Amino acid sequence: MTFAKIAGIGHYVPENVVTNDDLTKVMDTSDEWIRERTGIQERRYGTKSTETTATMGAEAARKACEAAGIQPSDIDFIVFATLSPDYYFPGCGVLVQRELGITDGECGALDVRNQCSGFVYALSVADKFVASGMYKNVLVVGSEMHSMGLDFSTEGRGVTVIFGDGAGAVIVQPSDSKDSAILASAMHSDGTYAEKLAMLSPGSHGGKHLSAQGDERDWGFAPQEDFGGIFTTQNMLDNGDFYPVMEGQFVFKLAVQKFPEVVLEVLAKAGLTVDDIDMLIPHQANLRIAQFVQRTLKLRDDQVYNNIQRYGNTTAASVPIALSEAIAEGKVKRGDVVVIAAFGSGFTWAGAVFRY
Ligand SMILES: CC(C)(COP(=O)(O)OP(=O)(O)OC[C@H]1O[C@@H](n2cnc3c(N)ncnc32)[C@H](O)[C@@H]1OP(=O)(O)O)[C@@H](O)C(=O)NCCC(=O)NCCS
Repeated sequence: MTFAKIAGIGHYVPENVVTNDDLTKVMDTSDEWIRERTGIQERRYGTKSTETTATMGAEAARKACEAAGIQPSDIDFIVFATLSPDYYFPGCGVLVQRELGITDGECGALDVRNQCSGFVYALSVADKFVASGMYKNVLVVGSEMHSMGLDFSTEGRGVTVIFGDGAGAVIVQPSDSKDSAILASAMHSDGTYAEKLAMLSPGSHGGKHLSAQGDERDWGFAPQEDFGGIFTTQNMLDNGDFYPVMEGQFVFKLAVQKFPEVVLEVLAKAGLTVDDIDMLIPHQANLRIAQFVQRTLKLRDDQVYNNIQRYGNTTAASVPIALSEAIAEGKVKRGDVVVIAAFGSGFTWAGAVFRY
């Protein structure tokens, strides 16, 4: 039987460090508030116009290729997860492909729009393509350039202080042994609360979903007889509707429930228990969430890896960046049982267990 394994991993974070104190210069917040509620001390912001979600993804991808001992030209297929793409369309999959110089048309590219759980979903796609024998080298990228789309006024502080930029990537290859293989994954979603953690515009919603929820906002859409012109309106711009919104406490309550559930689910699928976990890499949403999950699962400190303190929440990039660092620091070694799990906008949540 053929399995799929993580053959190589790499990550890239921009050089520009932004501390909590730096943010106090543009909005009413404090280092104390941010640390206490989220654990975040600093984050990285990419350089405008030079770095993008795709270029950072390409940097991470080059490192992953090197670690796997392959050339970018060996990549058969790309799965790219992000919520902050360079363009509304086309997706970042083709842009990272162009950055890597693999434009001979042989390699397919797929974008995954699952926000915080994007990388875990993307990895499961790669797992199935490789284990089925369809592809031999699948590149999975999670990358975010959040800093280009956040509200840096005090109004946006509840969201803005949490997010940071960065990218992580893995190369997934076939494996003939369960000693180095993705063992199980699980994916879930529930669209009931789609608008509770979202960036609503631009979009084709026309106000529909929100008006059904009692929102009486004037979106400034053109009348029906005028056709078109509804993706972007002046009212959207004036209302700051291009920024992400989040009901933090609502998200928190669901996250602390779904994270442990999905961890236990993938372990059970793989015939393992919590005691078998060498390392849990939770999506770096909030240190308090990760600590809650750790307590719920009764894991020791050395069984859970966190780096949100230094990077903030990098959404689709957070799991591969953390995994890459944990490996570089010798905290995850070949053969270790690693569990990854994520919860976020959608809501979507997912987990996977693999022997590295
Ligand atoms: C976002 C989060 C840190 C906010 O913490 P909280 O304790 O829920 O805080 P609240 O949103 O209730 O706000 C409490 C107060 O702090 C204020 N506040 C919000 N952001 C602030 C900031 N950056 N600095 C200072 N004060 C802030 C609020 O305005 C509010 O003030 P008020 O009481 O005068 O109205 C927390 O809810 C959280 O982490 N949720 C999960 C979010 C998450 O993980 N998202 C990613 C999912 S993948």
